Amino acid sequence: MAYENVRVEREEGGVALVWVHRPDKLNALNDATIRELSEAFGGLQADAEVRAVILTGAEAKRPSFVAGADIAEMAEQTPLEARARSQRGQALCSRIERLGKPVIAAVNGFALGGGLELALACHLRFAADTALLGLPEVTLGIIPGFGGTQRLPRLIGLGPALELIATGEPVSAREAYRLGLVNRVFQAGELLEAARKCARTIAGNGPVAVRLALDAAQRGSAMSLDQGLAYETELFALIASTEDMREGLKAFLEKRPAAFRGQ
Ligand code: COA
Repeated sequence: MAYENVRVEREEGGVALVWVHRPDKLNALNDATIRELSEAFGGLQADAEVRAVILTGAEAKRPSFVAGADIAEMAEQTPLEARARSQRGQALCSRIERLGKPVIAAVNGFALGGGLELALACHLRFAADTALLGLPEVTLGIIPGFGGTQRLPRLIGLGPALELIATGEPVSAREAYRLGLVNRVFQAGELLEAARKCARTIAGNGPVAVRLALDAAQRGSAMSLDQGLAYETELFALIASTEDMREGLKAFLEKRPAAFRGQ
């Protein structure tokens, strides 16, 4: 499917790449881009061949993952339009978070506002050492509306999150790493290959196992420990119904690589 502001590429080994492609606007998320990203991720979710996804920003005049929600579109929004915009942005982020396959944000430059919120919805965040990450909404007189006020404190803790949210000041990739906001930092030229390598490793694992393990960790983190442990047990039982479990354990015993079919 052809999009205007999004590029999707499927590679061998079960990895798909998604580029936000609005270079003139530093890949800012206008409504059309949010719609296209939602459709693109819907397609990747339905594609059993795809086992891991990398989300990154297309090359722009300054390196950008996504420089935010589109400020021009928000300038005249009414409260009802703002609510709908927030809901659409949140729905995209939730779709990514619940994709059932890991999504790696390869943060290749500015990840500001909606751009950081998009990265926060991904399962892993790798950053270029030149990247800048932040939630500058309050400097514009608005608040984060694509989940940033909720996901950031859950990821890095309330204290550091409040500093980022209230000052609106961005942090460097190194500082983001120190805060636990990004998993790893690479030289800019090595970022995509590092993300690919990680995505391929994930894609070689049992896809149902990866999906259920993510689900246990993500849902479980919103539960009490007792509830989370009980949920884990149910998923551990469910995985015993899969061919993949039999294949994975048998392959180990037969000293050969497993050939998972996602069933
Ligand atoms: N929404 C809409 N357009 C944006 C944008 C955004 N979030 N971020 C950048 N752009 C556009 C600029 O308006 C400019 O468009 P133009 O060439 O038609 O005038 C183009 O992208 C290049 O941006 P520019 O500001 O000229 O680049 P810069 O190198 O001087 O500054 C930034 C880069 C990222 C510091 C600056 O663009 C910026 O602060 N962007 C907004 C970041 C933000 O507040 N995001 C959160 C929004 S909720």
